Amino acid sequence: MKRSEINEILREGAAFIAQHGFVLPPFAFWSPQEFAAHRPAIGPLLEARLGWDITDYGQGRFADLGLFLFTVRNGRQADLKAGGGMCYAEKIMISRQNQISPMHRHYLKAEDIINRGGATLAIELFGAAEDGSFDANAGGVVYCDGVRRAFSAGEVLHLAPGESVTLMPGDWHAFWGEGGDVLIGEVSTVNDDETDNWFRDPIGRFPEIEEDEAPLHLLAPDYARIA
Ligand SMILES: [Fe+2]
Repeated sequence: MKRSEINEILREGAAFIAQHGFVLPPFAFWSPQEFAAHRPAIGPLLEARLGWDITDYGQGRFADLGLFLFTVRNGRQADLKAGGGMCYAEKIMISRQNQISPMHRHYLKAEDIINRGGATLAIELFGAAEDGSFDANAGGVVYCDGVRRAFSAGEVLHLAPGESVTLMPGDWHAFWGEGGDVLIGEVSTVNDDETDNWFRDPIGRFPEIEEDEAPLHLLAPDYARIA
């Protein structure tokens, strides 16, 4: 992706989030220079990779295959291993109309995917084979706001604003906005996106960035530059 495209998506995404009444923390709007100036005090923020994360899954077709994310909070892997403490994470995301987040599952992360406003959130579901791999014939059971919901292989849930689904590790899922763009919340287990995504098809998780202009704001994958 070109940096100019990422900057434009950032502007549009921040406006969409604000329009739906979700207010981001101050560091969302720091310039790259402000990030550098705060460096001594923000070790945990950088380590947890809080902040902007825009991806085209390395495919160069953001409108069709992509996701806009902001990680609001993300705990500590060490706490998860120890069995207590900061084991949680929260993201706010945007799926545009018919923009697919491709079929994947997680190894460790359980996640509540929440429609926070806008259009309908469509979520396609499959169960896993015995070894955890994708099974085109497997259904399963999820809970939607605490209510049991059995699904057949490839069934699509349609979540209206306010509705959510709990996905456990092993639940294969893809999602997109239906009828318009949708603001999505994610409340989950502490998360490492470098290691915890198992995609059905061989794709990347982060974009390749071509620097054709200066970044408006840093993305989490940019932190390596200042860390
Ligand atoms: Fe997921």
